[in-house]
Amino acid sequence: IIKEDESLPKAVKITIGDKDVELGEADVRGTRVKVSGRIHRLRQQKQATFLTLVDGYGHLQCVLSGDLTKTYEAYLFAQGTSLTLYGEMRKVLAGQSAPDNRELHVDYYKIIGRSPSDIDAITNRVSAQQDQWDSQMLDNRHLVLRGDTASSVMKVRSAVEWAFAKAYRELKFTKISPPAFVQTQVEGGSTLFELDYYGEKTYLTQSSQLYLETGIPSLGNVYCIEKSFRAEKSLTRRHLSEYTHVEAELDFIDFEDLLDHLEEMISRVITTILDDKEIAGYIKELNPDFKPPTRPFKRMRYSDAIDWLNAQDPPILNEEGNPHVFGDDIAEAAERRMTDIINLPIFLTHFPVEIKAFYMKKDESDRRVTESVDVLMPGVGEIVGGSMRMEDYDELMEAYKREGISPKEYYWYTEQRKYGTSPHGGYGLGLERFIAWICKQHSVRTCCLYPRFMGRCKP
Ligand code: 4AD
Repeated sequence: IIKEDESLPKAVKITIGDKDVELGEADVRGTRVKVSGRIHRLRQQKQATFLTLVDGYGHLQCVLSGDLTKTYEAYLFAQGTSLTLYGEMRKVLAGQSAPDNRELHVDYYKIIGRSPSDIDAITNRVSAQQDQWDSQMLDNRHLVLRGDTASSVMKVRSAVEWAFAKAYRELKFTKISPPAFVQTQVEGGSTLFELDYYGEKTYLTQSSQLYLETGIPSLGNVYCIEKSFRAEKSLTRRHLSEYTHVEAELDFIDFEDLLDHLEEMISRVITTILDDKEIAGYIKELNPDFKPPTRPFKRMRYSDAIDWLNAQDPPILNEEGNPHVFGDDIAEAAERRMTDIINLPIFLTHFPVEIKAFYMKKDESDRRVTESVDVLMPGVGEIVGGSMRMEDYDELMEAYKREGISPKEYYWYTEQRKYGTSPHGGYGLGLERFIAWICKQHSVRTCCLYPRFMGRCKP
Protein backbone atom coordinates (compact mmCIF):
# COMPACT_ATOMS: atom_id res chain seq x y z
CA ILE A 1 0.00 0.00 0.00
CA ILE A 2 1.34 3.42 -0.94
CA LYS A 3 0.49 6.64 0.86
CA GLU A 4 0.58 10.25 -0.18
CA ASP A 5 3.39 12.18 1.50
CA GLU A 6 1.57 14.89 3.47
CA SER A 7 4.63 17.13 3.54
CA LEU A 8 4.55 17.66 -0.24
CA PRO A 9 2.89 20.78 -1.71
CA LYS A 10 -0.81 20.41 -2.47
CA ALA A 11 -1.25 19.09 -6.02
CA VAL A 12 -2.88 21.33 -8.65
CA LYS A 13 -5.48 19.56 -10.74
CA ILE A 14 -4.67 19.78 -14.46
CA THR A 15 -5.46 18.10 -17.75
CA ILE A 16 -2.70 17.12 -20.14
CA GLY A 17 -3.80 20.00 -22.33
CA ASP A 18 -2.58 22.51 -19.73
CA LYS A 19 0.79 23.50 -21.13
CA ASP A 20 1.67 26.39 -18.84
CA VAL A 21 2.52 24.28 -15.83
CA GLU A 22 5.90 25.18 -14.39
CA LEU A 23 8.54 22.61 -15.17
CA GLY A 24 11.26 21.64 -12.74
CA GLU A 25 14.89 21.27 -13.75
CA ALA A 26 18.19 20.89 -11.92
CA ASP A 27 17.48 22.48 -8.52
CA VAL A 28 14.27 24.27 -9.49
CA ARG A 29 11.11 22.52 -8.39
CA GLY A 30 8.27 22.14 -10.88
CA THR A 31 4.58 22.40 -10.02
CA ARG A 32 3.13 19.44 -8.19
CA VAL A 33 0.10 18.34 -10.18
CA LYS A 34 -2.72 15.87 -10.07
CA VAL A 35 -3.76 14.46 -13.43
CA SER A 36 -6.22 11.74 -14.40
CA GLY A 37 -6.24 9.65 -17.55
CA ARG A 38 -5.58 6.23 -18.97
CA ILE A 39 -2.44 4.32 -19.73
CA HIS A 40 -1.74 4.55 -23.44
CA ARG A 41 1.71 2.98 -23.54
CA LEU A 42 3.56 1.14 -20.86
CA ARG A 43 7.17 0.11 -20.31
CA GLN A 44 7.95 -1.62 -17.06
CA GLN A 45 11.56 -2.00 -15.97
CA LYS A 46 13.07 -3.25 -12.75
CA GLN A 47 13.78 0.16 -11.28
CA ALA A 48 11.10 2.25 -12.94
CA THR A 49 7.85 2.22 -14.85
CA PHE A 50 7.44 4.55 -17.81
CA LEU A 51 4.00 5.22 -19.07
CA THR A 52 2.26 7.54 -21.49
CA LEU A 53 -0.95 8.89 -20.04
CA VAL A 54 -3.77 10.13 -22.28
CA ASP A 55 -6.86 12.06 -21.24
CA GLY A 56 -8.21 13.34 -24.55
CA TYR A 57 -6.16 16.54 -24.33
CA GLY A 58 -2.71 15.20 -25.09
CA HIS A 59 -0.03 12.71 -24.15
CA LEU A 60 2.02 12.87 -20.98
CA GLN A 61 5.14 10.89 -20.21
CA CYS A 62 5.17 9.71 -16.61
CA VAL A 63 7.82 8.00 -14.53
CA LEU A 64 7.21 5.93 -11.44
CA SER A 65 10.22 4.80 -9.52
CA GLY A 66 11.25 3.27 -6.21
CA ASP A 67 8.52 1.86 -4.01
CA LEU A 68 5.80 3.07 -6.34
CA THR A 69 6.66 0.42 -8.88
CA LYS A 70 6.98 -2.37 -6.36
CA THR A 71 3.30 -2.58 -5.47
CA TYR A 72 0.94 -5.28 -6.65
CA GLU A 73 -1.22 -2.62 -8.30
CA ALA A 74 1.66 -1.31 -10.38
CA TYR A 75 2.26 -4.87 -11.44
CA LEU A 76 -1.31 -4.97 -12.79
CA PHE A 77 -0.96 -1.83 -14.91
CA ALA A 78 -2.13 -2.37 -18.47
CA GLN A 79 -3.04 -0.36 -21.50
CA GLY A 80 -6.37 1.30 -20.71
CA THR A 81 -6.01 1.33 -16.91
CA SER A 82 -7.47 4.60 -15.64
CA LEU A 83 -5.69 6.34 -12.80
CA THR A 84 -4.95 9.59 -11.08
CA LEU A 85 -1.30 10.46 -10.83
CA TYR A 86 0.29 12.96 -8.47
CA GLY A 87 3.75 14.30 -8.90
CA GLU A 88 6.14 16.98 -10.01
CA MET A 89 6.25 18.12 -13.61
CA ARG A 90 9.82 18.30 -14.90
CA LYS A 91 11.66 19.11 -18.11
CA VAL A 92 12.94 15.99 -19.82
CA LEU A 93 16.69 15.60 -19.70
CA ALA A 94 18.67 17.02 -22.59
CA GLY A 95 18.82 14.60 -25.48
CA GLN A 96 15.60 12.83 -24.48
CA SER A 97 12.27 13.50 -26.06
CA ALA A 98 8.72 13.39 -24.74
CA PRO A 99 5.47 15.12 -25.63
CA ASP A 100 5.84 18.84 -24.82
CA ASN A 101 9.35 18.04 -23.54
CA ARG A 102 8.09 17.32 -20.08
CA GLU A 103 7.73 14.40 -17.77
CA LEU A 104 5.66 13.74 -14.67
CA HIS A 105 7.70 12.37 -11.79
CA VAL A 106 5.01 10.51 -9.91
CA ASP A 107 5.04 10.49 -6.13
CA TYR A 108 1.61 9.00 -5.52
CA TYR A 109 -1.20 7.44 -7.56
CA LYS A 110 -4.67 5.95 -7.32
CA ILE A 111 -6.00 3.35 -9.69
CA ILE A 112 -9.52 4.21 -10.79
CA GLY A 113 -10.38 1.41 -13.18
CA ARG A 114 -8.43 -1.66 -14.19
CA SER A 115 -7.98 -2.91 -17.69
CA PRO A 116 -7.19 -6.47 -18.73
CA SER A 117 -3.68 -7.43 -19.76
CA ASP A 118 -4.53 -10.97 -20.88
CA ILE A 119 -6.17 -12.13 -24.11
CA ASP A 120 -8.79 -9.43 -23.63
CA ALA A 121 -6.13 -6.72 -23.71
CA ILE A 122 -6.86 -3.78 -26.00
CA THR A 123 -3.81 -4.62 -28.09
CA ASN A 124 -5.24 -8.07 -28.74
CA ARG A 125 -8.60 -6.68 -29.71
CA VAL A 126 -7.28 -4.03 -32.07
CA SER A 127 -4.12 -4.49 -33.97
CA ALA A 128 -2.08 -1.59 -35.21
CA GLN A 129 -1.21 -3.45 -38.37
CA GLN A 130 -4.79 -3.79 -39.50
CA ASP A 131 -6.71 -1.31 -41.51
CA GLN A 132 -8.93 0.75 -39.29
CA TRP A 133 -11.88 -0.24 -41.41
CA ASP A 134 -11.68 -4.01 -41.66
CA SER A 135 -14.60 -5.78 -40.04
CA GLN A 136 -12.90 -6.81 -36.79
CA MET A 137 -11.68 -3.27 -36.35
CA LEU A 138 -15.17 -1.94 -36.98
CA ASP A 139 -16.64 -4.32 -34.39
CA ASN A 140 -14.08 -2.87 -32.01
CA ARG A 141 -14.54 0.69 -33.11
CA HIS A 142 -15.12 1.74 -29.48
CA LEU A 143 -11.55 0.64 -28.71
CA VAL A 144 -10.06 1.73 -32.04
CA LEU A 145 -11.23 5.24 -31.15
CA ARG A 146 -8.69 5.20 -28.33
CA GLY A 147 -5.87 4.99 -30.83
CA ASP A 148 -3.84 7.98 -31.94
CA THR A 149 -4.96 7.88 -35.57
CA ALA A 150 -8.67 7.57 -34.92
CA SER A 151 -8.66 10.17 -32.17
CA SER A 152 -6.66 12.63 -34.28
CA VAL A 153 -9.15 12.29 -37.13
CA MET A 154 -12.00 12.94 -34.68
CA LYS A 155 -10.23 16.03 -33.33
CA VAL A 156 -9.77 17.36 -36.85
CA ARG A 157 -13.38 16.63 -37.61
CA SER A 158 -14.55 18.58 -34.61
CA ALA A 159 -12.35 21.51 -35.60
CA VAL A 160 -13.64 21.43 -39.17
CA GLU A 161 -17.27 21.49 -38.04
CA TRP A 162 -16.53 24.45 -35.84
CA ALA A 163 -14.60 26.18 -38.64
CA PHE A 164 -17.64 25.88 -40.90
CA ALA A 165 -19.88 27.36 -38.23
CA LYS A 166 -17.38 30.18 -37.70
CA ALA A 167 -17.10 30.97 -41.42
CA TYR A 168 -20.88 30.96 -41.87
CA ARG A 169 -21.27 33.27 -38.94
CA GLU A 170 -18.65 35.66 -40.32
CA LEU A 171 -20.51 35.63 -43.64
CA LYS A 172 -23.81 36.29 -41.81
CA PHE A 173 -25.54 33.02 -42.59
CA THR A 174 -28.30 31.88 -40.27
CA LYS A 175 -28.19 28.29 -39.03
CA ILE A 176 -31.41 26.35 -39.22
CA SER A 177 -32.28 22.77 -38.40
CA PRO A 178 -34.53 21.02 -40.92
CA PRO A 179 -36.31 17.75 -40.10
CA ALA A 180 -34.91 14.27 -40.70
CA PHE A 181 -38.33 12.64 -41.28
CA VAL A 182 -39.55 13.82 -44.67
CA GLN A 183 -42.00 12.89 -47.39
CA THR A 184 -40.03 14.21 -50.34
CA GLN A 185 -37.00 12.98 -52.20
CA VAL A 186 -34.19 15.26 -53.30
CA GLU A 187 -31.58 13.09 -54.95
CA GLY A 188 -33.53 10.29 -56.62
CA GLY A 189 -35.81 7.53 -55.34
CA SER A 190 -33.27 4.72 -55.41
CA THR A 191 -31.42 5.74 -52.24
CA LEU A 192 -34.39 6.54 -50.01
CA PHE A 193 -34.73 4.87 -46.62
CA GLU A 194 -38.44 4.35 -46.26
CA LEU A 195 -40.21 3.92 -42.98
CA ASP A 196 -43.61 3.74 -41.46
CA TYR A 197 -44.50 6.99 -39.74
CA TYR A 198 -47.71 6.41 -37.78
CA GLY A 199 -49.10 4.63 -40.79
CA GLU A 200 -47.81 7.15 -43.34
CA LYS A 201 -45.03 6.51 -45.82
CA THR A 202 -42.04 8.60 -44.81
CA TYR A 203 -38.34 8.78 -45.60
CA LEU A 204 -35.14 9.70 -43.87
CA THR A 205 -33.90 12.88 -45.48
CA GLN A 206 -31.32 12.67 -48.28
CA SER A 207 -30.56 16.37 -48.10
CA SER A 208 -31.97 19.39 -46.29
CA GLN A 209 -31.80 21.49 -49.43
CA LEU A 210 -35.51 21.87 -50.10
CA TYR A 211 -36.09 23.05 -46.53
CA LEU A 212 -33.15 25.44 -46.66
CA GLU A 213 -34.72 27.01 -49.73
CA THR A 214 -37.80 27.82 -47.68
CA GLY A 215 -35.68 29.62 -45.10
CA ILE A 216 -34.08 32.26 -47.32
CA PRO A 217 -37.07 34.63 -47.79
CA SER A 218 -37.13 35.61 -44.14
CA LEU A 219 -33.69 34.63 -42.88
CA GLY A 220 -31.39 35.50 -45.76
CA ASN A 221 -28.63 33.04 -46.51
CA VAL A 222 -28.99 29.91 -44.41
CA TYR A 223 -27.02 26.78 -43.62
CA CYS A 224 -27.31 23.58 -41.67
CA ILE A 225 -25.02 20.80 -40.55
CA GLU A 226 -27.28 17.79 -40.25
CA LYS A 227 -27.30 14.08 -40.98
CA SER A 228 -28.36 12.90 -44.42
CA PHE A 229 -29.29 9.32 -45.18
CA ARG A 230 -28.77 7.34 -48.36
CA ALA A 231 -29.66 3.72 -48.91
CA GLU A 232 -26.51 3.21 -50.98
CA LYS A 233 -26.42 -0.34 -52.21
CA SER A 234 -22.79 -0.34 -53.16
CA LEU A 235 -19.81 -0.62 -50.88
CA THR A 236 -17.36 2.01 -51.93
CA ARG A 237 -14.82 3.81 -49.86
CA ARG A 238 -16.68 7.08 -50.10
CA HIS A 239 -20.30 6.07 -49.50
CA LEU A 240 -22.01 5.90 -46.16
CA SER A 241 -25.69 5.34 -45.44
CA GLU A 242 -25.63 8.03 -42.75
CA TYR A 243 -23.36 11.01 -43.23
CA THR A 244 -22.97 14.57 -42.04
CA HIS A 245 -24.03 17.06 -44.63
CA VAL A 246 -22.93 20.68 -44.56
CA GLU A 247 -25.50 22.51 -46.68
CA ALA A 248 -26.11 26.14 -47.51
CA GLU A 249 -28.54 28.12 -49.60
CA LEU A 250 -27.90 31.64 -50.93
CA ASP A 251 -30.50 34.10 -52.13
CA PHE A 252 -30.30 36.61 -54.99
CA ILE A 253 -27.11 35.28 -56.49
CA ASP A 254 -25.91 34.07 -59.86
CA PHE A 255 -23.87 30.97 -60.62
CA GLU A 256 -20.55 32.83 -60.44
CA ASP A 257 -21.46 34.09 -56.96
CA LEU A 258 -22.14 30.51 -55.90
CA LEU A 259 -18.74 29.31 -57.13
CA ASP A 260 -16.93 32.23 -55.52
CA HIS A 261 -18.69 31.60 -52.24
CA LEU A 262 -17.76 27.91 -52.27
CA GLU A 263 -14.13 28.74 -52.87
CA GLU A 264 -14.22 31.29 -50.07
CA MET A 265 -15.81 28.83 -47.63
CA ILE A 266 -13.36 26.02 -48.32
CA SER A 267 -10.42 28.41 -48.04
CA ARG A 268 -11.67 29.96 -44.80
CA VAL A 269 -12.23 26.57 -43.20
CA ILE A 270 -8.74 25.39 -44.13
CA THR A 271 -7.20 28.60 -42.82
CA THR A 272 -9.07 28.32 -39.53
CA ILE A 273 -8.02 24.75 -38.83
CA LEU A 274 -4.40 25.32 -39.82
CA ASP A 275 -4.25 28.40 -37.57
CA ASP A 276 -4.99 26.08 -34.66
CA LYS A 277 -1.62 24.65 -33.65
CA GLU A 278 -3.01 21.51 -32.08
CA ILE A 279 -5.16 20.69 -35.11
CA ALA A 280 -2.38 21.59 -37.55
CA GLY A 281 -0.24 19.10 -35.62
CA TYR A 282 -2.74 16.28 -36.12
CA ILE A 283 -3.01 17.08 -39.81
CA LYS A 284 0.75 17.08 -40.15
CA GLU A 285 0.87 13.60 -38.60
CA LEU A 286 -1.97 12.22 -40.67
CA ASN A 287 -1.19 13.93 -43.95
CA PRO A 288 2.35 15.34 -43.97
CA ASP A 289 2.04 16.65 -47.52
CA PHE A 290 -1.20 18.55 -46.99
CA LYS A 291 -1.13 22.02 -48.45
CA PRO A 292 -4.00 24.48 -48.56
CA PRO A 293 -5.24 24.71 -52.16
CA THR A 294 -4.08 27.77 -54.06
CA ARG A 295 -6.69 30.18 -55.33
CA PRO A 296 -8.40 30.57 -57.68
CA PHE A 297 -9.50 26.93 -57.82
CA LYS A 298 -9.43 25.32 -61.22
CA ARG A 299 -12.79 25.53 -63.00
CA MET A 300 -13.67 23.09 -65.73
CA ARG A 301 -16.87 22.58 -67.67
CA TYR A 302 -18.31 19.07 -67.86
CA SER A 303 -17.95 19.07 -71.66
CA ASP A 304 -14.25 19.94 -71.34
CA ALA A 305 -13.85 17.14 -68.81
CA ILE A 306 -15.28 14.70 -71.35
CA ASP A 307 -12.72 15.91 -73.92
CA TRP A 308 -9.98 15.70 -71.30
CA LEU A 309 -10.86 12.09 -70.43
CA ASN A 310 -10.80 11.12 -74.12
CA ALA A 311 -7.54 12.96 -74.75
CA GLN A 312 -5.61 10.87 -72.21
CA ASP A 313 -3.27 8.22 -73.53
CA PRO A 314 -4.82 5.70 -73.19
CA PRO A 315 -8.24 7.40 -72.91
CA ILE A 316 -10.06 7.06 -69.59
CA LEU A 317 -13.17 5.04 -70.50
CA ASN A 318 -16.73 5.12 -69.20
CA GLU A 319 -18.31 2.32 -67.15
CA GLU A 320 -19.20 0.36 -70.30
CA GLY A 321 -15.59 0.47 -71.41
CA ASN A 322 -16.20 3.03 -74.18
CA PRO A 323 -14.85 6.51 -74.70
CA HIS A 324 -16.95 9.10 -72.86
CA VAL A 325 -19.61 10.94 -74.83
CA PHE A 326 -21.58 14.05 -73.85
CA GLY A 327 -24.37 12.92 -71.54
CA ASP A 328 -22.38 10.18 -69.80
CA ASP A 329 -22.16 10.18 -66.07
CA ILE A 330 -18.52 10.56 -65.11
CA ALA A 331 -18.38 7.56 -62.79
CA GLU A 332 -16.40 7.36 -59.58
CA ALA A 333 -13.37 5.62 -61.08
CA ALA A 334 -12.94 8.04 -63.99
CA GLU A 335 -13.59 11.04 -61.77
CA ARG A 336 -10.96 9.86 -59.31
CA ARG A 337 -8.37 9.29 -61.98
CA MET A 338 -8.98 12.70 -63.44
CA THR A 339 -8.68 14.41 -60.04
CA ASP A 340 -5.57 12.46 -59.16
CA ILE A 341 -3.85 13.28 -62.45
CA ILE A 342 -4.76 16.97 -62.33
CA ASN A 343 -3.98 16.88 -58.59
CA LEU A 344 -5.79 20.12 -57.76
CA PRO A 345 -9.23 20.92 -56.42
CA ILE A 346 -11.54 21.19 -59.42
CA PHE A 347 -14.88 22.93 -59.77
CA LEU A 348 -16.52 20.78 -62.41
CA THR A 349 -19.49 22.68 -63.81
CA HIS A 350 -22.38 22.63 -66.30
CA PHE A 351 -23.50 19.00 -66.16
CA PRO A 352 -26.12 17.83 -68.65
CA VAL A 353 -29.73 18.12 -67.53
CA GLU A 354 -30.34 14.35 -67.83
CA ILE A 355 -27.74 13.29 -65.29
CA LYS A 356 -28.56 15.87 -62.66
CA ALA A 357 -31.32 16.42 -60.12
CA PHE A 358 -34.74 17.69 -61.17
CA TYR A 359 -34.51 21.04 -59.39
CA MET A 360 -31.38 22.35 -61.13
CA LYS A 361 -31.57 25.51 -63.19
CA LYS A 362 -30.73 25.30 -66.87
CA ASP A 363 -27.97 27.42 -68.34
CA GLU A 364 -29.62 30.16 -70.43
CA SER A 365 -26.84 30.04 -73.04
CA ASP A 366 -26.94 26.24 -73.46
CA ARG A 367 -30.16 24.64 -72.26
CA ARG A 368 -28.69 21.14 -72.53
CA VAL A 369 -26.75 21.83 -69.35
CA THR A 370 -27.45 22.96 -65.81
CA GLU A 371 -25.83 25.60 -63.63
CA SER A 372 -24.36 22.89 -61.46
CA VAL A 373 -21.04 22.22 -59.78
CA ASP A 374 -19.24 19.29 -58.26
CA VAL A 375 -16.12 20.06 -56.26
CA LEU A 376 -13.51 17.35 -56.76
CA MET A 377 -10.55 16.83 -54.48
CA PRO A 378 -7.43 14.76 -55.13
CA GLY A 379 -7.55 11.38 -53.40
CA VAL A 380 -11.29 11.50 -52.77
CA GLY A 381 -13.12 12.87 -55.80
CA GLU A 382 -16.44 14.60 -55.33
CA ILE A 383 -16.88 16.31 -51.98
CA VAL A 384 -19.50 18.92 -52.90
CA GLY A 385 -22.56 18.97 -55.11
CA GLY A 386 -24.33 22.23 -55.76
CA SER A 387 -26.36 24.22 -58.24
CA MET A 388 -28.59 27.15 -58.99
CA ARG A 389 -32.26 26.21 -58.51
CA MET A 390 -35.12 26.46 -60.97
CA GLU A 391 -36.98 29.70 -60.32
CA ASP A 392 -39.95 29.29 -62.57
CA TYR A 393 -43.15 27.64 -61.31
CA ASP A 394 -44.15 25.99 -64.58
CA GLU A 395 -40.66 24.80 -65.32
CA LEU A 396 -40.50 23.12 -61.93
CA MET A 397 -43.88 21.43 -62.50
CA GLU A 398 -42.48 20.16 -65.79
CA ALA A 399 -39.37 18.86 -64.01
CA TYR A 400 -41.47 16.86 -61.51
CA LYS A 401 -43.21 15.26 -64.43
CA ARG A 402 -39.95 14.37 -66.13
CA GLU A 403 -38.67 12.81 -62.91
CA GLY A 404 -41.92 10.94 -62.26
CA ILE A 405 -42.46 12.78 -58.98
CA SER A 406 -45.95 13.53 -57.75
CA PRO A 407 -46.01 17.30 -57.10
CA LYS A 408 -48.53 16.91 -54.29
CA GLU A 409 -46.01 16.31 -51.49
CA TYR A 410 -43.87 19.15 -52.81
CA TYR A 411 -46.51 21.88 -52.57
CA TRP A 412 -44.51 23.81 -49.97
CA TYR A 413 -41.40 23.66 -52.13
CA THR A 414 -43.23 24.63 -55.30
CA GLU A 415 -44.92 27.54 -53.56
CA GLN A 416 -41.56 29.26 -53.13
CA ARG A 417 -41.94 29.96 -56.86
CA LYS A 418 -45.44 31.30 -56.37
CA TYR A 419 -44.79 33.73 -53.52
CA GLY A 420 -41.94 35.84 -54.86
CA THR A 421 -39.42 33.65 -56.58
CA SER A 422 -35.73 34.57 -56.72
CA PRO A 423 -32.47 33.51 -58.30
CA HIS A 424 -30.91 31.30 -55.64
CA GLY A 425 -28.62 28.35 -55.25
CA GLY A 426 -26.71 26.27 -52.81
CA TYR A 427 -24.71 23.17 -52.19
CA GLY A 428 -24.08 20.20 -49.96
CA LEU A 429 -20.66 19.14 -48.73
CA GLY A 430 -20.04 15.65 -47.40
CA LEU A 431 -18.19 16.25 -44.14
CA GLU A 432 -16.61 12.78 -44.05
CA ARG A 433 -15.27 13.19 -47.58
CA PHE A 434 -13.86 16.57 -46.71
CA ILE A 435 -12.14 15.03 -43.67
CA ALA A 436 -10.87 12.10 -45.76
CA TRP A 437 -9.24 14.63 -48.07
CA ILE A 438 -7.63 16.67 -45.29
CA CYS A 439 -6.57 13.68 -43.18
CA LYS A 440 -5.61 11.47 -46.14
CA GLN A 441 -7.92 8.68 -45.09
CA HIS A 442 -8.45 5.83 -47.49
CA SER A 443 -12.14 5.68 -46.69
CA VAL A 444 -14.87 7.91 -45.30
CA ARG A 445 -15.55 5.15 -42.80
CA THR A 446 -12.70 6.22 -40.57
CA CYS A 447 -13.92 9.80 -40.71
CA CYS A 448 -17.03 9.18 -38.62
CA LEU A 449 -17.35 8.02 -35.05
CA TYR A 450 -19.36 4.88 -35.85
CA PRO A 451 -19.73 4.43 -39.60
CA ARG A 452 -22.99 3.26 -41.09
CA PHE A 453 -22.97 1.61 -44.49
CA MET A 454 -24.66 -1.33 -46.15
CA GLY A 455 -24.34 -4.29 -43.79
CA ARG A 456 -23.15 -2.31 -40.79
CA CYS A 457 -25.29 -0.73 -38.11
CA LYS A 458 -23.23 -1.55 -35.02
CA PRO A 459 -21.73 -0.72 -32.59
O1 4AD B 1 -24.38 15.62 -54.69
P1 4AD B 1 -25.38 15.39 -53.59
O2 4AD B 1 -26.30 14.24 -53.71
O3 4AD B 1 -26.17 16.76 -53.50
C1 4AD B 1 -27.23 17.00 -52.68
O4 4AD B 1 -27.67 16.26 -51.86
C2 4AD B 1 -27.75 18.40 -52.81
N1 4AD B 1 -29.19 18.39 -52.54
C3 4AD B 1 -27.03 19.27 -51.82
C4 4AD B 1 -27.46 20.70 -51.87
O5 4AD B 1 -27.39 21.31 -52.90
N2 4AD B 1 -27.89 21.24 -50.76
O6 4AD B 1 -24.62 15.29 -52.21
C5 4AD B 1 -23.79 16.33 -51.77
C6 4AD B 1 -22.54 15.78 -51.15
C7 4AD B 1 -21.68 14.95 -52.10
O7 4AD B 1 -20.85 15.78 -52.87
C8 4AD B 1 -20.90 14.10 -51.13
O8 4AD B 1 -19.80 14.81 -50.61
C9 4AD B 1 -21.88 13.86 -50.03
O9 4AD B 1 -22.87 14.86 -50.11
N3 4AD B 1 -22.50 12.54 -50.16
C10 4AD B 1 -22.14 11.47 -49.45
N4 4AD B 1 -21.20 11.29 -48.52
C11 4AD B 1 -21.07 10.06 -47.96
N5 4AD B 1 -21.86 9.01 -48.29
C12 4AD B 1 -22.83 9.15 -49.23
N6 4AD B 1 -23.61 8.11 -49.52
C13 4AD B 1 -23.00 10.42 -49.85
N7 4AD B 1 -23.85 10.90 -50.80
C14 4AD B 1 -23.52 12.19 -50.96
